Amino acid sequence: MTLSAEELGAQIEDRTAAGIARAVGRLVGDSTLGPGARLPPVRSLAEVLGVSPMTVSGAWKVLAADGLISTRGRAGTVVLDPACSATHPWPRRIAALGAPVNLDLSTGGPDPALLPDLAPALSRAGRVELPDGYQSDAVLPRLERVLRKRWPFPPESITVVDGAGDALDRLVSLVVRRGSRVLVEDPGYPPLLDLLDAAGAEVVGLELDGEGVRPESLKQALEGGAVAMWVQPRAQNPTGVSMRAPRAEELARLLGGSDLLVVEDDHSGDIATSELVSLGRWRPGATVHISSFSKSHGPDLRLAAVGGPARVVNALSERRLLGAGWSSRLLQHVLADLLTDPSAVAAVRAARATYARRRRAAIRALSTRGVRTTGDDGINLWVEVADEDRALATLLAAGIGAARGSVFGLAPPTTPHLRLTVGRLTGEVPALADAVASAAAPPLRRVTR
Ligand SMILES: Cc1ncc(COP(=O)(O)O)c(C=O)c1O
Repeated sequence: MTLSAEELGAQIEDRTAAGIARAVGRLVGDSTLGPGARLPPVRSLAEVLGVSPMTVSGAWKVLAADGLISTRGRAGTVVLDPACSATHPWPRRIAALGAPVNLDLSTGGPDPALLPDLAPALSRAGRVELPDGYQSDAVLPRLERVLRKRWPFPPESITVVDGAGDALDRLVSLVVRRGSRVLVEDPGYPPLLDLLDAAGAEVVGLELDGEGVRPESLKQALEGGAVAMWVQPRAQNPTGVSMRAPRAEELARLLGGSDLLVVEDDHSGDIATSELVSLGRWRPGATVHISSFSKSHGPDLRLAAVGGPARVVNALSERRLLGAGWSSRLLQHVLADLLTDPSAVAAVRAARATYARRRRAAIRALSTRGVRTTGDDGINLWVEVADEDRALATLLAAGIGAARGSVFGLAPPTTPHLRLTVGRLTGEVPALADAVASAAAPPLRRVTR
């Protein structure tokens, strides 16, 4: 149903921009204004309500930001189909394996046996006096000091959230509006791609090579403009590639003085072997860096730090005060302890070396069997296969779980892949490599005479 300016005006009591937005939102919610319904011209409604056109267009902006309407210039303003902004089911969720396996390499998670022992740090944290209540700092001062020392550039502001996933979610809500153009690595992290889709972003993929985002690809993408770019500086999930300083500097130079926000997701943190480089070294005012402790210290600590320009990091913390408020300072204490206790530091160093050994053994064994892999950092291997479905099914039949490569990509892949979390590989590498090699190969063709 489409309402005239007079009919719509009759439904609006509060004539502020927020009040108009609320009234129209209510009419969309109860389907009085269904998908495709045209809203009256701004000027006509402003006249009926006796307000300035700026007030009505302010209301339209709020509704557009909420994904309820779309303003299409001369074509007018129409109500969107809620199904278009429906966010379920997440199309890129890594599916459950569907059959029991002996070796699950589909998870992307760390080996629990390689995490540092939490017991001593938990026991010490139980004895300290923690800040009292709701008015105290969100970040434990002791942890903030440790974080600032390890940060790859001097951040104006730093805060702590519940993991890198939480940081990505909060930064997407802060930065992305419906229609915002954003740049991401392709292939990239599936939940980020789903978050951006759910926020209504126009997502542009950046090509990768052995050192991360290809400068040529960034240059091309920048021609269309963008508000933000998401990158993983090292151990990129899924490809395992890492950026070195000359590449980071080149990308920073291409971004120049633009205010495009770079969000860096260092999800592997202390288990990565590559040196951490950040575009923040060249663009401290427009780079937000996320440092996760899930892979190195345990996913259940649920802690990551976010540091960068105060205008972004403080906006994130301020918004969070309305909800969760802060991340458990008890767990922050445990993390500060783990980051400074020599035996925990040694355990993380040993885990990093073990992951590197497991990864290299897998790369070597696969390469001698003719299987191509990309990257060399973190816990995952990006394995080229002839056919995803066949490769997954073949591995599953051998009792091995792997993640489907296409969920990591924006477009259908030109080369099919699987992601194998080889950081969890404690058993026999040759047997796994044999199974992967036979799964990766094209099906045998029957020879006809
Ligand atoms: C690229 C990337 N970002 C974020 C996350 C989530 O990290 P966290 O456990 O710190 O929330 C992961 C987890 O694997 C990841 O691979």
